[in-house]
Amino acid sequence: MVMNTDEVLFYLAIYGGSPVRTKPWPGRSLLGAEERSAVNALFDEALSTGNAFGYNGPEEEAYCREFAEYMGGGYADAVNSGTTAVYTALRALNPEAFTEVIVSSITDPGGMMPIVLCNCIPVIADTAPGSYNVGPKQIEELISPLTSAILIAHIGGEPVDMEGIMAVARRHRIPVLEDCAQAHGAVLKGKKVGTFGDIAAFSTMFGKHHCTGGQGGVVYTRDAKLYQRIRWCSDRGKPLGLPDGSTNCTAALNLNLSDLSAAIGRVQLRKLPDIIRRRRDVAAAIIEGIKELKLVAVPDTLSGAEPSYWFLRLKFHVEAAACSKETYCQALAEEGIPVVASYRHLPHTMEWFTQRQVFGSSGLPWTSPLYLGNPDRVFTCLNAIAATDKQFNLRIHEGWGEEEIADTLMALKKLDEALKI
Ligand SMILES: Cc1ncc(COP(=O)(O)O)c(C=O)c1O
Repeated sequence: MVMNTDEVLFYLAIYGGSPVRTKPWPGRSLLGAEERSAVNALFDEALSTGNAFGYNGPEEEAYCREFAEYMGGGYADAVNSGTTAVYTALRALNPEAFTEVIVSSITDPGGMMPIVLCNCIPVIADTAPGSYNVGPKQIEELISPLTSAILIAHIGGEPVDMEGIMAVARRHRIPVLEDCAQAHGAVLKGKKVGTFGDIAAFSTMFGKHHCTGGQGGVVYTRDAKLYQRIRWCSDRGKPLGLPDGSTNCTAALNLNLSDLSAAIGRVQLRKLPDIIRRRRDVAAAIIEGIKELKLVAVPDTLSGAEPSYWFLRLKFHVEAAACSKETYCQALAEEGIPVVASYRHLPHTMEWFTQRQVFGSSGLPWTSPLYLGNPDRVFTCLNAIAATDKQFNLRIHEGWGEEEIADTLMALKKLDEALKI
């Protein structure tokens, strides 16, 4: 919709005016004919040979090899979700039971629950001021003799300060797991996230930058020994790499991805660089277009960061506004723009954590006498709360074109004109 006059500009949809955007938003068009051909090829083979496709087959092997190549070398193991990727990676690090794992406060529950399922205690790190991501200072403050691992999530495709985190972790000799579920292909100072820490986990469910069909995940490392443990931990401890005659060497679930999903993932991996490029282009156009606005701005990002934008985070200047952020975001949504008003994703405030709902009514792992820390510790995470109070997300993606960018900018300008003090 074209809006030229000031009169229309001031007439907000939330007060009965015409929305900037009524046209449906384009889908991501993530899956296409190439993925269908890859899947059909597997079915054709199954039909002609009489043998079903399975797991740990040629497609998975190729997908893992290609994934590792995409990361610049190393080893990858495909698993069946991002949650199981985090779980497998943590299991591979083999933390002692009832030790502490420091974890990002803003993350998906699937990025935190694996800790308690490994019988470890989550210690929640606040974010760096103004950010959804943790910083080295917030991590270092929580390190104790009980700390066995650090689990860092790169939220929204924005790289965490991994150089700072690794300096802290190395100083204390603590392994680092990078949760890259939301940050495929994000780069910090020329290096992809997932290559800074000891091990990394990715989600490849259908909402992520690249997918392996509906569900999936990848565990990645550059360490051959760790890779071997990853394989044990994702498949019932099968004695991969152990002498003939060895038996299953650790208790673990079967978390394998299937060859069918891996075949889709291989096609998707080829599309991934272009998907990231287009997301960056959309973000760049919006960032450029809001420079003069009074009510919204781009929050500070890390120097040297090239986010892959799972979403675009924006800061709301409440002091310049005639309304709250919630009203602003509602007004933006009424203009037809896809917005998430608050990314208050704090898994430690949810019932599973506060009610210790893990192993029956035991309260384990927190209640174990073998845990030597304070099970009742409170994590206030004031920075995370402040960041999610003051910021909101635009749900941009690679399917956005000129029109979507123009509509978004028009709506943001319309709101700026109408709602600034
Ligand atoms: C940071 C983070 N970690 C883990 C996960 C879990 O991934 P999945 O949904 O594939 O299990 C997600 C999912 O969005 C996530 O955003």
